[in-house]
Amino acid sequence: MRRQMLAIALSSLTAGGFAAEPKNVPELMKTANGGEVKTLADWENVRRLEILKTFETQVFGVRPVERPQDLAFETVICHDDALLSSAILKRVKIAWKGPRGSQHIVVTAFFPLSAKKKPVPCFVFLNRDGGVIGSQRLPRDAQVGPVDRDEHWPVERILLRGYATVAFDVTDVAEDDYSAFRCDVFGCFQDPEDRTSESWGTLSAWAWGASRVMDWLETEKFVDAKRVAVAGLSRRGKTALWAGATDRRFAMVCSCGSGTCGAKLNRFGLPSGSESLCRISRFRHWFCRNFDKWAGKDMTVPFDQHWMLSLIAPRLLCVASGSEDTGACPEGEYWSTYLASPAWALYGKKGLVANGFPAVEAPLQEGDVSYHVRKGPHEFLLYDWERFMDFADKHGWQN
Ligand code: GCU
Repeated sequence: MRRQMLAIALSSLTAGGFAAEPKNVPELMKTANGGEVKTLADWENVRRLEILKTFETQVFGVRPVERPQDLAFETVICHDDALLSSAILKRVKIAWKGPRGSQHIVVTAFFPLSAKKKPVPCFVFLNRDGGVIGSQRLPRDAQVGPVDRDEHWPVERILLRGYATVAFDVTDVAEDDYSAFRCDVFGCFQDPEDRTSESWGTLSAWAWGASRVMDWLETEKFVDAKRVAVAGLSRRGKTALWAGATDRRFAMVCSCGSGTCGAKLNRFGLPSGSESLCRISRFRHWFCRNFDKWAGKDMTVPFDQHWMLSLIAPRLLCVASGSEDTGACPEGEYWSTYLASPAWALYGKKGLVANGFPAVEAPLQEGDVSYHVRKGPHEFLLYDWERFMDFADKHGWQN
């Protein structure tokens, strides 16, 4: 019996020791009623909308509002001699009002001085824990001095490469727990008693916040709003992907270690250490209630994560994994990136150009979809930033 199981496991490995293409993956190019998706019109008018609806109603939840009528931007700090006079720093308050309350976030933005002459492309970074852009990185008088060398958000390096970058703490939009449903952004727009099995969860709320940052960027003279990327790690990587799926103004989407409910294909299975749909359900507030029904159904859930990635086509998509990040499952992340690629083909673009799972630090960047594995753990590091910027450069973002 054991020998038979080993034989089955080995038969799914290719010569290089990597798993072969997963089987029984839900079809991307077939509509709900079984029709083939042959043209871009079939895709845009039928299939893409079906997929969007599936992820809204079954995973992330439906939002009660998109851009609120009452949305205001206020620059609270602007220094054009930041980082030893090499950058412009702005802190901008983005405020909204809903029928039940009001809220604001403060974003921190750095622009290279070149932005004074010509608007520059920009990375919106979904940041963590407040500290990095709060007291830790920017003590009250640090706006004019250097900031810590921080690989997670390497501001100076990003600026040197000609990009602007803006970060916010996603938990300013909604706390990362159940309490948020009564207050925060949820409380502004919806009575908690009115929540249904399809109501938005926290990841959707964070992605909504990224879209409000985009609303501000469209008004910011230093930024080329047609070249804005959204990026994040892990739970914020899932969020970046969902933000890109739902808001087509993001011209590029970058995730690191987004894993389950991010770039990881459920049908890839559960190699040791990787997170199952059952296990991720412990973060129940991230999703809508309907998501509960998929726990334990990794191999039978009627949709899969390559569908979600396909919503980003024909824009630029960068998926990254850490070689030691078994939790996020690098090969599973690779396969949905690969299997989403037919969506790019419908627009006459190349998706991921690949010949199997790549070697560590051998990025695949030929098409309009990029995939790389960085050596190391579950993180978003300088290596990842450099590859994302290389990819943007390749697509003319610095021209
Ligand atoms: C947990 C969770 C992951 C998530 C990660 C993170 O480990 O299970 O799905 O990606 O947290 O956000 O760091």
